[in-house]
Amino acid sequence: MEIITDIPSLRLRLKSEHYVVFVPTMGNLHEGHLSLIQIAKQKSGCLVSSIFVNRLQFGQTSDFDQYPRTLKEDLKSLEKNGVDVVFAPTEEDIYPVHQEFIIEPPPLANILEGEFRPRFFSGVATLVLKLFNLVQPQLAIFGKKDYQQLCIMREMTRQLNLSIEIGEGETVRASDGLALSSRNRFLNKEERAEAVCLFQVLSKIKLEIEAGNKNFEKLQNDARETLISRGWDVDYIALRQRNTLAPAQVNNGALVVLGAAKLGETRLIDNLEISAEI
Ligand code: PAJ
Repeated sequence: MEIITDIPSLRLRLKSEHYVVFVPTMGNLHEGHLSLIQIAKQKSGCLVSSIFVNRLQFGQTSDFDQYPRTLKEDLKSLEKNGVDVVFAPTEEDIYPVHQEFIIEPPPLANILEGEFRPRFFSGVATLVLKLFNLVQPQLAIFGKKDYQQLCIMREMTRQLNLSIEIGEGETVRASDGLALSSRNRFLNKEERAEAVCLFQVLSKIKLEIEAGNKNFEKLQNDARETLISRGWDVDYIALRQRNTLAPAQVNNGALVVLGAAKLGETRLIDNLEISAEI
């Protein structure tokens, strides 16, 4: 595995590659990230992963400084999982000057996560577009764990005519159902035990709808109330259409239920696709 930290070396290394598969990350890797690497590995080609904590996608009063940085362990995991090239640039490499050209994502970026984290998807899109320009992959893989991010990446490649296929990976969970996340390490023992409740209330909505319940309003409110009564600070529990993330209505077809809530100081997000055709 080659570890590359500067842009000229990256360009030189990838120049003669015909098929590049790319998995961007912010590091502190867990089985969720590694599942994307395994999907990428199934394609024959050069497998590139990046590790970069992107300041642009953190807010003002943000956890940018606290974001866990575990480069040494991450490199070991990537090597074990058969990655060919790791791109781990410094902030000066990616943002040598103040980044003034900024991607303005569509309104899809202003709802759900975007409502609670203004400019977040603009920061994600700007960085990912820069990485796409540097790595020039044929295929890039994102996790469904960050469902809205995946939708926005698809829309970005479509609207900006990038000839990059966007692949997706299912959410990897702990044995109790909690979605793996770099943020889980901030949960204390009691919070960790409670954290699975987010998955449980989303699962309940999914099961109810799949069993024919069409009272979407009540299902969402009940889930929210359950979390609030257990001490969570709920940002949203939202039943949406899968691709547009517009509010779900009966007869909408494929749906997804998404949730974001804070437990103590830790903000968790999760989602589940609903299989029933509504
Ligand atoms: P990060 O949070 O490190 O996630 C990197 C990739 O791993 C994303 O595509 C994310 O959806 C996926 N992922 C995270 N947890 C997962 C889980 N439990 N199961 C499956 N996949 C999971 O997302 C980002 O970084 C950044 O926004 C980035 C795209 C790198 C841009 O900075």
